[in-house]
Amino acid sequence: MELGRSSLPLLGQAGGRSLQTCRWKCAYDCFHDKPNRSGNEPFTSVVERGLTRRGFLKGAGAALVLTAATPLVGGSAAAQTGRNGRGPGFEPIAPSMVDDVIVPDGYEYGVLLRWGDPVLPDAPAWDFNNQSPEAQAGQFGYNCDFVAFMPLPSRSSNSGRGLVWVNHEYTNPEVMFPGYSSDSPTAAQVDIERMAHGGSIVTVKRDRRTGHMQFVQDGGWNRRIHAETPMELTGPAAGDALLRTSVDPTGTQVAGMLNNCAGGVTPWGTILTCEENFHQYFANRAAVSDDRVADLHARVGIPEGASERKWELFHSRYDVAQEPNEPFRFGWTVEIDPYDPTFTPRKRTALGRYKHEGATTRLTADKRVAVYSGDDEVFEYIYKFVTVGRYRRNDRAHNLGLLDEGTLYVARFDIDEDGNGVGEWLPLVFGEGPLTPENGFASQADVVIDARRAGDLVGATPMDRPEDVEPSPLTGAVYAALTNNTSRTEPNAANPRSPNRGGHVIEWNEDGNDAAATTFTWRFLLICGDPDDPTTYFAGFPKELVSPISSPDNLLFDRRYNLWIATDGQPTFLGHNDAFHVVPLSGDSRGHVQQFLSVPVGAEACGPELTPDEQTLFCAVQHPGEGSTAASPSSTWPDRRSPPRPSLVTVVKADPRGGVRIGT
Ligand code: FEO
Ligand code: CA
Ligand code: CA
Repeated sequence: MELGRSSLPLLGQAGGRSLQTCRWKCAYDCFHDKPNRSGNEPFTSVVERGLTRRGFLKGAGAALVLTAATPLVGGSAAAQTGRNGRGPGFEPIAPSMVDDVIVPDGYEYGVLLRWGDPVLPDAPAWDFNNQSPEAQAGQFGYNCDFVAFMPLPSRSSNSGRGLVWVNHEYTNPEVMFPGYSSDSPTAAQVDIERMAHGGSIVTVKRDRRTGHMQFVQDGGWNRRIHAETPMELTGPAAGDALLRTSVDPTGTQVAGMLNNCAGGVTPWGTILTCEENFHQYFANRAAVSDDRVADLHARVGIPEGASERKWELFHSRYDVAQEPNEPFRFGWTVEIDPYDPTFTPRKRTALGRYKHEGATTRLTADKRVAVYSGDDEVFEYIYKFVTVGRYRRNDRAHNLGLLDEGTLYVARFDIDEDGNGVGEWLPLVFGEGPLTPENGFASQADVVIDARRAGDLVGATPMDRPEDVEPSPLTGAVYAALTNNTSRTEPNAANPRSPNRGGHVIEWNEDGNDAAATTFTWRFLLICGDPDDPTTYFAGFPKELVSPISSPDNLLFDRRYNLWIATDGQPTFLGHNDAFHVVPLSGDSRGHVQQFLSVPVGAEACGPELTPDEQTLFCAVQHPGEGSTAASPSSTWPDRRSPPRPSLVTVVKADPRGGVRIGT
């Protein structure tokens, strides 16, 4: 069912987001019907076998009561290493509603790049009242999200000079353009938006005096990737009939990438940047005559009629009535070599097509490559891809072919007879199990294009919006941020609240601590919210000592066994701005969530990223002022004399007594 536009305001807010966030981030995805699509064992029977028997749940779907003595919530992945986390050494900040970036005493922030700042050497200065697609194509894009610091020279651990990759996930046209009309955007506005999507590669060097990073405009690597950048499709779906269009009858070439949310870095120094809510750029599903194509488009949420953005008015490829296969060329993980400015980005279809949040890597025991990813929509799945080939440290050409051949798995979470969290990686391989012609799969191309339905058929566990899924480089334990799911009415083993407004973080250990394992054990790290809420859980740490946290999204590890958690949705759920929080993963401080940073009004906190020496922290401030307009902005950060500008900031110690590393 599609909801009428007029009914949306009555529904208020979804999942801790403002309605404008829902509109531009995912085209009101949460407001559409979300049937539980999985063939999993129903939650109630899982609970009856495990949770309820152990007294975890008081009544079906009611408040969760966790005790530290139970296997499902006890334990520490890091403890398996015999190492103790020391915990962060800073004074946590109080939750904030201030229209600024707030950091702890002894720290300071600086703005590195703002939306519109020139990135290419010949790009013009930003002029809010005279924007153009040509200018934007050379300038820093909108809504910065994933951030990766890549040292120079490559394969070094130099923190003084490097490249920074930044995703530009989406645009907020009513904040970008004076007098924007969503009913009749202009062709120029649409093309500025298209050029403001994608990513930026920027050269930076550290200012020795302040410690902040400075942008180097004549750095030879600076590059903008946008909605028209030529890209290749590789892997099992490349060339498939579903990927062919009138412009590309080969099904192997595509212009641009869209809605790149989070990402990761490969062991060979390339970027993985992931297309998330790609459905929102396409229109007119109701006019598609091929039933199979229409069903595939429905599963990812392509609108029956006009899109919110209305790009289809000016570019026929966004109109599936005219170009029904164009959406199959989006929803992929894109590999980009930041050290090669001539590199043609490659959409790696072997990793599956869905609303990818990020893609993070770890080598298996035999040096193959595992890539973890989540599908960020309510009731969707967590995935892992394991390559056939092995990483070779000194063979870049070989490594650049690794992500085209391997096994895609989807995660199932259960509870065993003893109440322990156990899990299984279920292979999504054509011809195995239900993935056969009888069920509509004629090839591995069909499996990766329709990865969600393949996951349904094998019995994957529907999750509460998987955001970052990331293995710790120190311990190998894997962490998944589940942002929220206000549509959930039936909890399941790994998603214990219905509805789940605050989100949670789960932790698992691959069996044998091998990223190639097909079984694992899991437990909750955090069940988020106001600590006064009895359904919250902070790894057993005393609740009165933790900072409130909700809507966990992006993750980062430091070298002191701490997990950094960026949030997306605290303003609605907790009543204060989004944030960076730090939580020790081991030792006595495990679960001691402390807030480190707060972003301006209306913004989402993204990144985070640290330089190798951990002296510089990056924060991407995404969509400040979202929910307002350019004429009456709710935020004026960072310039104070213009509408807000999404920006990349660096945080350093202003007072280095006690050390220069962040959080020490
Ligand atoms: Fe773009 Fe899943 O946040
Ligand atoms: Ca995200
Ligand atoms: Ca998010």
